[in-house]
Amino acid sequence: LNIQKQGYDSYMLKEVFEQPKIIANIARWDEAKVKGWKKGIKSVQLIAAGSSWHAALIGQYVLEKKARLTTRVWVASEYVKANPPLSACSLTLAISQSGETADVLNAVKWERKRRKEQNCLYQCPIIAITNRKESTLAQYVNEIWPMNVGVEMAVAATKSFVATLMMLYKLAGIKTEELLPLASEVEHVLRTESTRMREMAEQVIKFPLCIFMGRGLLWPIAMEASLKLTEVANLASLAYAAGEMKHGYLALLSQETLVICLSCADHQVEEIEARGASVMRLDLEGEQIHVAIKTLVCLQMLSYYAAKLKGLDVDRPRHLAKSVTVF
Ligand code: G6P
Repeated sequence: LNIQKQGYDSYMLKEVFEQPKIIANIARWDEAKVKGWKKGIKSVQLIAAGSSWHAALIGQYVLEKKARLTTRVWVASEYVKANPPLSACSLTLAISQSGETADVLNAVKWERKRRKEQNCLYQCPIIAITNRKESTLAQYVNEIWPMNVGVEMAVAATKSFVATLMMLYKLAGIKTEELLPLASEVEHVLRTESTRMREMAEQVIKFPLCIFMGRGLLWPIAMEASLKLTEVANLASLAYAAGEMKHGYLALLSQETLVICLSCADHQVEEIEARGASVMRLDLEGEQIHVAIKTLVCLQMLSYYAAKLKGLDVDRPRHLAKSVTVF
């Protein structure tokens, strides 16, 4: 028995199972304390890479829809090149589990420098959401909002992704009573969906291409699920917004293709099947903010099983690093 893995066969699985507790902890954050951050802010820009970028895309949805804040999301590596106009009262929020991702550090450093140079007396600070308060990122921001979810050992982000979503939900003003039930719902999903995900994984690994599609919050969830499958199970995978299928992706459908539909409409599923592709549906019930996380947790398990079935090391996928400190 590996004590550090607490009986699980991998860090990834251990970290997946830590999620209900993490959800409950963040759901309970004091609403009054969280509320203040919006004061004087007119817009938000989120800067991140990898899974943290997917979390930011979900953040954009909730910050715009629930908090009514205009929000832009930047892939960290694109930020400096894009050179977006500096706007007053725009809060910069960098998201990085490790706080060491070179592209994120570079973007934040550049942002800080130009604010100084342009003599911007900024009311709006640069803030970081990170799991490592002591990281390099801390040196370049005005404030750190820590995830406090403990060390994430597996290369693929799982618990840090869910923690980031929960923090963004809180920042968007979603209330404790709305978020707290999610902890037991996710626990339930982990207990009841594991067998189905293993069976799905047995099919998934047979296909040369696996496509995920979803709408709303389930679009970035499709992107994250696709990334997980590629990272840990080394499978070729794509993700797109369900409505985009007709704009090109139909050309990819054949008997060689598997499409995983996240809460898609029946007609979309029929259109895929009519073109010879296989379909798997995942339709979990509830509010979209809950469904997004529950669906993702299922798909984390799917990737885990797919990797296991292929005999791969789920914690240390080939060619990948936990934090990418190079450009
Ligand atoms: C690497 C990891 C990913 C992670 C990304 C961003 O590519 O393998 O799992 O999402 O970096 O990491 P960060 O620490 O900045 O969130």
